[in-house]
Amino acid sequence: MRSHYCGALGTSNIDETVTLCGWVDRRRDHGGVIFLDLRDRQGIVQVVFDPDTEEHFQRADRVRSEYVLRVSGRVRARSAGTVNPAMATGEIEVLGKELEVLNQAATPPFQMDEYTSVGEEVRLQYRYMDLRRQEMQERLMLRSRITTQVRNFLDGEGFLDIETPILTRATPEGARDYLVPSRTHPGQFFALPQSPQLFKQLLMVAGFDRYYQIAKCFRDEDLRADRQPEFTQIDIETAFLDEAAIMDVTERMIRELFRAVLQVDLPAFPHMPYAEAMERYGSDKPDLRIPLELVSVDDLMQQVDFKVFRGPADDPAGRVAALRVPGGATISRKEIDDYTSYVAIFGARGLAWIKVNDIDAGVAGLQSPILKFMPEEVVARMMQRLGAANGDIIFFGADRARVVNEALGALRIKVAQDLDMVADGWAPLWVVDFPMFEEEGEGGWTPLHHPFTAPACSVDELRANPGQALSRAYDMVLNGCELGGGSIRIFQRDMQEAVFRILEIDEAEAEEKFGFLLKALQYGAPPHGGLAFGLDRLVMLMTGATSIRDVIAFPKTQTAHCVLTDAPGDVSAQQLRELNIRLRQAREEAG
Ligand code: AMO
Ligand code: AMP
Repeated sequence: MRSHYCGALGTSNIDETVTLCGWVDRRRDHGGVIFLDLRDRQGIVQVVFDPDTEEHFQRADRVRSEYVLRVSGRVRARSAGTVNPAMATGEIEVLGKELEVLNQAATPPFQMDEYTSVGEEVRLQYRYMDLRRQEMQERLMLRSRITTQVRNFLDGEGFLDIETPILTRATPEGARDYLVPSRTHPGQFFALPQSPQLFKQLLMVAGFDRYYQIAKCFRDEDLRADRQPEFTQIDIETAFLDEAAIMDVTERMIRELFRAVLQVDLPAFPHMPYAEAMERYGSDKPDLRIPLELVSVDDLMQQVDFKVFRGPADDPAGRVAALRVPGGATISRKEIDDYTSYVAIFGARGLAWIKVNDIDAGVAGLQSPILKFMPEEVVARMMQRLGAANGDIIFFGADRARVVNEALGALRIKVAQDLDMVADGWAPLWVVDFPMFEEEGEGGWTPLHHPFTAPACSVDELRANPGQALSRAYDMVLNGCELGGGSIRIFQRDMQEAVFRILEIDEAEAEEKFGFLLKALQYGAPPHGGLAFGLDRLVMLMTGATSIRDVIAFPKTQTAHCVLTDAPGDVSAQQLRELNIRLRQAREEAG
């Protein structure tokens, strides 16, 4: 129906007769001449109708915003005074000859250029309108270019695209499962995969030694800006490659992606042990664009009487850490109170601070509610360790190490954003040497990654000291966002069983849930490992969006609700009966 995209026209098309299809972005009547801004996915062009073309002029006069038109006309240069440098097609316009209204449109629920005022709920309800906005069009087009580039790269490296089931058994990645009742097996349920993890391992056993899939994953977890209940992974698995080789190929993939799509050369990816990341940044996904670091002061605080600090300093599971913020002395009491409330979200019971007014004046040059509890010489040594300078504020966290890390780690980011201390550009890294397990409650263990991750030690060493064991896992982090994670897998049955035992999955449960995997490991499983990237997060970072919802065509809200279709929804009594399901809460049912 069309000869050109509106947004693709330029001075090289002058004098050509073109046919365009698109939506009316704007209609203006300028003393007998009608200007239509016609929009398609490539952009907007101005079409002019003058009264010479009687019939078509009349039609142009009656069109309204978002009507769908087919327009033919001649491209001409705009006169010098009417060139619009803000518009990609601003040097030309189309002199309309024919206009056909392909469809009318009801009054839009919001003005396309005033979408921000309507709130996300309305945008999602009318997502097809929201997606017409240039910004959203560009994001989804970039997403498509990203997946194309990724496929081309992986194809070139010999990876095979293989699909895995959606109706399956639970694949644990630490979230709740979405369950699907089975009609043919009354009382039984499929789980939607939290990732293709187990199937991709089985593909390695099957000999497809380089696999990838752009795979939908489903996790019923608490949602945030960078989490959706259904999201997409670039999922990768290889056999006969060690962690260095896997990191190499996936790092090259990301590097070439940035070069091809954004014309950006990423800097080197440092490798940082997990312990160092926690020590210096309080996070296993540090944003290295921020020039602030946590510094431990436990040893110094073992010498003070201040119980709040002394307790955690003496406790092996505790931590007392300082965060020095250059220039932060201008932060007001009110702002400190706000930061104190902010760290409370992470369980911190307070936020001690010291302002440095005159470092050469000793304690007299400092300002703080906690100085009275500390010997002068401890303060002096601390200032020296932190490299304190005039104009600094130093924040303190004292608690269980996990609370301090989460609280000060988050504060580091928030203060840096507030004080405009986040550098431009890209800061990638690999985080490596993760512990195998985290302590959970009384003596229980949970895997830091998933339970199929190989430890960096023998079965006996693992059993003897699960808390000390490191894993062969690696995460790729970019600008403080965990882009992807993976590991070398367990490929021998005795090791897999040992890990299940440590996780208190007994033999019967292991057999019930993962018997098929354990069995497969006995039939010639090769050494293997892989990684999965969060595609939505990758696209979010590459488009500069602040939420993954803005790079997913039809996302769900924070309460995992699709406002467009109003899903999840009720089902009929008959459907429930067929599924052998009776709802516990009696509900009035229509029909
Ligand atoms: P993991 O659970 O770390 O590993 O997931 C891999 C990547 O997927 C992204 N991601 C998400 N993105 C959006 N919404 C979510 N709810 C969400 N959850 C995770 C993140 C994350 O880094 N099977 C393993 C990978 C492997 O070991 O190969 C796995 O799923 O960017
Ligand atoms: P208090 O003696 O409770 O008034 O606390 C003195 C200062 O220490 C205040 O600035 C508190 O915000 C701070 N504070 C209290 N508990 C902690 C903690 N666990 N970590 C860091 N600072 C704390």
